[in-house]
Amino acid sequence: MKKRIAVLPGDGIGKEVTRGAVDILNAIGERFGHQFYFSYGKIGGSAFESEGTPLPDETIELCKESDAVLLGAVGGPQWDRLPVHLRPEQGLLKIRKELNLYANLRPTNYYESLVESSPLRKEVIEGVDMLIVRELTGGLYFGKPSERSQQDGKDVVVDTLFYQRAEMYRVIKLAFEVAKGRKKKVTSVDKANVLESSRMWREVAEEVSAQYPDVELEHMLVDNAAMQMIKNPKRFDVVVTENMFGDILSDEASVLTGSLGMLPSASLSENGPYLYEPIHGSAPDIEGKNIANPLAMILSVAMMLRTSFGLEEEAEAVENAVNEVLNAGYRTQDILSFGNRAVSTNEMVAEVKATILDHE
Ligand code: NAI
Ligand code: MG
Repeated sequence: MKKRIAVLPGDGIGKEVTRGAVDILNAIGERFGHQFYFSYGKIGGSAFESEGTPLPDETIELCKESDAVLLGAVGGPQWDRLPVHLRPEQGLLKIRKELNLYANLRPTNYYESLVESSPLRKEVIEGVDMLIVRELTGGLYFGKPSERSQQDGKDVVVDTLFYQRAEMYRVIKLAFEVAKGRKKKVTSVDKANVLESSRMWREVAEEVSAQYPDVELEHMLVDNAAMQMIKNPKRFDVVVTENMFGDILSDEASVLTGSLGMLPSASLSENGPYLYEPIHGSAPDIEGKNIANPLAMILSVAMMLRTSFGLEEEAEAVENAVNEVLNAGYRTQDILSFGNRAVSTNEMVAEVKATILDHE
């Protein structure tokens, strides 16, 4: 198989973990006889530095011409003072909009080997297998107006939670489709006791649910969901929710696995290309130290192989290699506990790569 992959390393540890992802894809290509062609594009603060914009047009074009997009992370304190439209994070919001990536899939799995990295007890997290489907191109992060003004001499501010019914429909529909191949349960999270947008969300969830008699639907208020996710995470299968609720709940869910450095994601659109990225940011506090955990990015590569290219065996080869390396005790510092072997970013990548090629 021949595939063209747009690689957008971005800033900070995004660059470090993206190098590793490319190594892993090359190892998969070597073992299974595929050719992956990589083209690099700029995004975020690094794009601003050389091009004066966080998302140059060439990057958008490059992504649109590719079969899939791999993104590191953007941002850093050196760009904090820039006007909002030039900030690195705008590059990210804009690429999601340009590629119409309306659904962000964030799986959280339990790793037996990492049980000591989680602050939660083993009985609580053992066997967790949850998928958060976050709406990504609407809601509070995109609604207009979003501005400050003066009313009757007082400082006021407004943000807008705006959705078209159709935007709710497509992401909820996708959640049901995914649930069909899993434990057949969808938890739709909203704030229907307060928000009108949530009341429409609930209606749409019911409407979609009628098409899937085999899939169970439950509604849950977001504050309760935040609590249940820590108290009894095993009760969840697929969780579908609005943009901001999903943003917050998925960071919370990362604690179940043990580290932000372990969680991958896939962002899907109607016609592709899809975009894959770890859920963590550019981690300026550990940038340049070769200690970032590359596994969230490597697991994003597995999602790319499976979802964009239909390469199930190859995706499993990556996931199995990650498991084997963890079982063998290799740990970056974010998941390090007593008795393990501390390794750098590059060493972790090299271990996963060697494990993939070992099984040739
Ligand atoms: P962050 O995710 O970059 O870091 C949070 C904490 O987790 C830090 O202590 C960091 O060292 C640690 N961490 C994150 N990823 C890790 C990894 N792979 N291995 C080991 N430790 C890891 O979030 P933060 O600090 O809130 O944001 C930093 C910058 O990243 C900001 O400019 C923010 O806007 C941006 N950001 C970008 C995202 C993206 O590009 N998708 C997502 C989240 C934040
Ligand atoms: Mg976030």
